[in-house]
Amino acid sequence: MKVSIIGGGGLVGSCAGFALQAGRIVREIALIDLNQELCEGQALDLLHGASLLADQTITAAPTAAVSDSDVVVITAGLRRKPEESRLDLINRNVALFRSILADVKKAGLKKEAICFVVSNPVDVLTYLAIRELGLPPSQVIGLGTVLDTTRLRSMLAQRLNVAPTQVGVTILGEHGDSMVPIWSNAQIAGLPLDKYPGVTPTLIQEVEKKTRGSGAEVIKKKGGAGFAVGVSIADVVHCMALDQRRILPVSSLQSGAYGLRDVAISVPTVVGRKGVLGTVEIELWPKEKIGLQNSAGVLRETLAKVL
Ligand code: 2OP
Repeated sequence: MKVSIIGGGGLVGSCAGFALQAGRIVREIALIDLNQELCEGQALDLLHGASLLADQTITAAPTAAVSDSDVVVITAGLRRKPEESRLDLINRNVALFRSILADVKKAGLKKEAICFVVSNPVDVLTYLAIRELGLPPSQVIGLGTVLDTTRLRSMLAQRLNVAPTQVGVTILGEHGDSMVPIWSNAQIAGLPLDKYPGVTPTLIQEVEKKTRGSGAEVIKKKGGAGFAVGVSIADVVHCMALDQRRILPVSSLQSGAYGLRDVAISVPTVVGRKGVLGTVEIELWPKEKIGLQNSAGVLRETLAKVL
């Protein structure tokens, strides 16, 4: 599988490149960036480690490299300030994102290519990519709340001193302030979370609050997310590369699940080599259903400003 990363010179894109290299699954990684010198530096730095990792092709490439890519990851975009919401980025990032879409369209894509949007506000930009790229909606996916979900799982594990890989709780909705943690179905190693030793309503509230603020906290402390968003991107790409058909909270165009329509937002989604293979509807608490509807409303309001 060949993966191109538009924005590959930046923090998010280069961390995604490293996570894909370390994952040893994809065959080719092409970093694309307006800042060619930086992009070449990232590719060179990755290449230097190749002999200890995997037999892959890693390059700094022009936008034309998307034309034979299986997955085109778009991470390019301006980062928000800690006090800004991701939706505040809309005015700055939409114009840049539209120019990237135009360049990708001009270069051409394989019929079965998948566009994987990471740039923020990711749900809005995913919807834009669906509208403007000409790919089937199932082949346009946004990272959505995959990053929020791993943050919540990892920090909950740390608080409870359990294995992070055994924490099962998912965040749905907007990758943003209206995100919806789904506590109703949370579990640790298959054991109901609300009965797990040490779990209290206060602990849940504290971890949820810290998760919601994690993006801004990381921006404040180190300028922006890199490692966790990089491995989140790689996890979704690997699910496509291996056609694993895992259920992931990626953002995609909704057509009725949870009563959501005509908006790109995160719901439990079966992801495989062809992109979105389906969604999974489960019974949620009333407040979770309301939260999802609210999230979709917030996104539609923003979409109305850019369409
Ligand atoms: C974050 O939450 C970059 O939106 C991403 O850190």
